[in-house]
Amino acid sequence: MGHDAIILGGGAAGLFCAAVAGQRGRRVLVLEKAEAVGKKILTSGGGRCNFTNLGAGPDNYLSANRHFAKSALARYTPRDFLDLVDRYAIAWHEKTLGQLFCDGSARQIVAMLLEECAKGAVDVRVGQEITRVGRDDEGFSVEANGETHRAPSLVIATGGQSIPKMGATGFAYDLARQFGLKVVEPRPALVPLTLGGEDVLFRELSGVSAPVEAQAGQGKTAAKFREAALLTHKGLSGPAILQASSYWRHGEVLRIDFLPDAPRGWLIARKGETPKASFAGVLREHLPERLADTLAGRLKLEGPLQGLSDKVLARAEDRLRGWQFHPNGTEGFAKAEVTAGGISTTDLSSQTMEAKRVPGLFAIGEAVDVTGWLGGYNFQWAWASGHACGQAL
Ligand code: FDA
Repeated sequence: MGHDAIILGGGAAGLFCAAVAGQRGRRVLVLEKAEAVGKKILTSGGGRCNFTNLGAGPDNYLSANRHFAKSALARYTPRDFLDLVDRYAIAWHEKTLGQLFCDGSARQIVAMLLEECAKGAVDVRVGQEITRVGRDDEGFSVEANGETHRAPSLVIATGGQSIPKMGATGFAYDLARQFGLKVVEPRPALVPLTLGGEDVLFRELSGVSAPVEAQAGQGKTAAKFREAALLTHKGLSGPAILQASSYWRHGEVLRIDFLPDAPRGWLIARKGETPKASFAGVLREHLPERLADTLAGRLKLEGPLQGLSDKVLARAEDRLRGWQFHPNGTEGFAKAEVTAGGISTTDLSSQTMEAKRVPGLFAIGEAVDVTGWLGGYNFQWAWASGHACGQAL
């Protein structure tokens, strides 16, 4: 049987796209390299899959073109996906900040996607080694496991480069380049940052975590995240850092506000209230002991507050509200939850995800240069871009 569309990759975006197109009567073939589909879905959210975020909107995504994701996100919203989850009676809960997780297991999401594919009579094949992809007057041809498949449409849904151990490669980018599409240099995102130089002192605090506001990026692309930071034996992690890492570039500073909950002028006020309290002792009111002591040591401020002038305390507060770290790198694709960059949006239609100059070729999901924040936003992009494409196939 001939197919109308071949989808490469049976992950979140590929399966959802296949289901949407299949249910519209298209004959769809999904070719998945791994022995099972949806591996990242299964490991996501600690096995419970943070499948969407109620607040997901274009501002929660990074891309060289920050308008690109708008159309697809507006046409398939978190509520739309939630309705589907509810139709399958999958129990879920909201954790924090609009993040929705399964009560049970991420397996339920994969089972739901496969059921949706079955409703659309999608042919899902796993263990497929793709050896060649070509294009001629009749459309696309894909050689996999010694067979040649043909279709007028081809969808690249093979994801990003994050976690090579799970089989992630740059396949999507190579394929895109083969068809003349540009690729925005892929880089690890939602990834722990490593510290060296003067900052290594903080590595001794491995295991300590604190609520902070982390800021990274320059100008229009700067962003701030108020969540927990975690010190590790390599540097910095925790949600605030992972979020900021997507905006951080080599050579730039990462600013941490260690006092996000303290009122301005707090140190001077504390001096009035408890003049005999030590500087480190007062910091411990807002920060874990070891971190407070390290920061006090780095500021070289010891002894009781009454011995420190208001000017010195005001300067110390400024530094604590904008502590400058100089990360020397990231923990790389091995530890990155997602890949920033990817197939350039300039070459794709934001309505359909079709390549503007290669009719019939589409790209969706993480392979595209649209990267979500931590907290269910990346799956929402996979669903929304998959839906936009599935409606156009
Ligand atoms: P995805 O990676 O899901 O799928 C690509 C598929 O293509 C894979 O099945 C792969 O095997 C296949 N493939 C690759 N190369 C191929 C080839 N040459 N031929 C055929 N098939 C090939 N996001 C979120 O919103 N909430 C969360 O809770 C999490 N949690 C999370 C945890 C961990 C550990 C990671 C690594 C990532 C997350 N994410 C997340 C991110 C999320 O998993 C990711 O953004 C989506 O899975 C992207 O969906 P795609 O379908 O684009 O790629």
